[in-house]
Amino acid sequence: MKGLILSGGKGTRLYPLTYTRAKQLIPVANKPILVRVIEAIRDAGIEEIGVVIGQTGPEIREALSDGSRWGVKLTYIPQDSPDGLGHAVKISRDFLGDERFVMFLGDNVIEGGIDGLIRDFATNDWNSQIVLKHVENPSAYGVAKLRPDGSIEQLIEKPAEPQSNLALVGIYMFDSYIFDAVNAIAPSKRGELEITDAIQWLVDKGYRVYPHVHAGWWIDTGKPIDMLEANSHVLEELKPYISPEAVCEGSQIDHRVTVERGAKVINSVVRGPTIIGEHCVIENSYVGPFTSIYHHVTVRNCEIERSIVLERSSIENVDTRIQDSLIGRHVHVARNDERPRALKVNLGDHSDLRLE
Ligand code: TTP
Repeated sequence: MKGLILSGGKGTRLYPLTYTRAKQLIPVANKPILVRVIEAIRDAGIEEIGVVIGQTGPEIREALSDGSRWGVKLTYIPQDSPDGLGHAVKISRDFLGDERFVMFLGDNVIEGGIDGLIRDFATNDWNSQIVLKHVENPSAYGVAKLRPDGSIEQLIEKPAEPQSNLALVGIYMFDSYIFDAVNAIAPSKRGELEITDAIQWLVDKGYRVYPHVHAGWWIDTGKPIDMLEANSHVLEELKPYISPEAVCEGSQIDHRVTVERGAKVINSVVRGPTIIGEHCVIENSYVGPFTSIYHHVTVRNCEIERSIVLERSSIENVDTRIQDSLIGRHVHVARNDERPRALKVNLGDHSDLRLE
């Protein structure tokens, strides 16, 4: 089997962070989501992986290179415009050939691995297997209706009156009949070749499409709140450690905290699950649970909780506790002591600032 990761798209719901960075490269618990996806596919025994890339392609290529760092072989498949998940499959035909493959959305985070799924699909003669999850608000998702024998009967995108609470998770397995499907369907009202339409085509033509119902958590990191949630889940699973090359002085650091190489934690309180990245400085501060601080970040005289801070940012002397926040790269947040006392901001398009 081969792997196909979808890493194109625009990421508009994560503006402004995704103006300058591919959303799949945003780290969750200090590891880019895309790397988590590659590791999940590799751990299921698949080494040849195609990566569909769009306008953020150069950045993704630079971050992942040929994949040898993770023991896989990556082939990049440029997509001229984000014309849908079905379109991404269509343009990957040459790479995939007639092999069966697993397709994983590059911005999805899932609990546990996918080796069980891959085994299921490899040992059955199904034409496709799709991953489903019980959700509370099915109207917000693509929803599956099953037949009494457990196979898929119908997929409906964001139904007003859902026929089940089984939502489509961003992992799919196909054999080469999917190419007949993506070549046969027409673009949807939003102008995209929808993968749900392609799967429905398979079902309607009598191909065998079966579900796997995922029991653990799964997060599609479309919006900032999803990023924070994925971060919390992954932090809870992380095996904590304090690097011998980190300095921790006069601080209370609880047992669920990871402190990476070269970081300094001084006169601070850090409560886990939390990760402090390489070469960070945390001084006279409180870092609360569910926080990921990426590398080369300074936090001084501040309190921060349930947040993600990306590399080379600094937060200093802020009186208000920062919470539920997503802070990009090279961001500086500080108290202004100059007169006149005023809020001075330099926010990019689509920024979101909420004052106390
Ligand atoms: P989406 O989250 O559906 O789309 P998006 O990334 O453009 O986000 P937004 O709605 O905020 O603008 O995409 C799911 C994944 O699939 C994501 O990793 C991007 C990728 N993708 C492609 O590679 N090609 C495509 O044509 C589309 C639509 C998405």
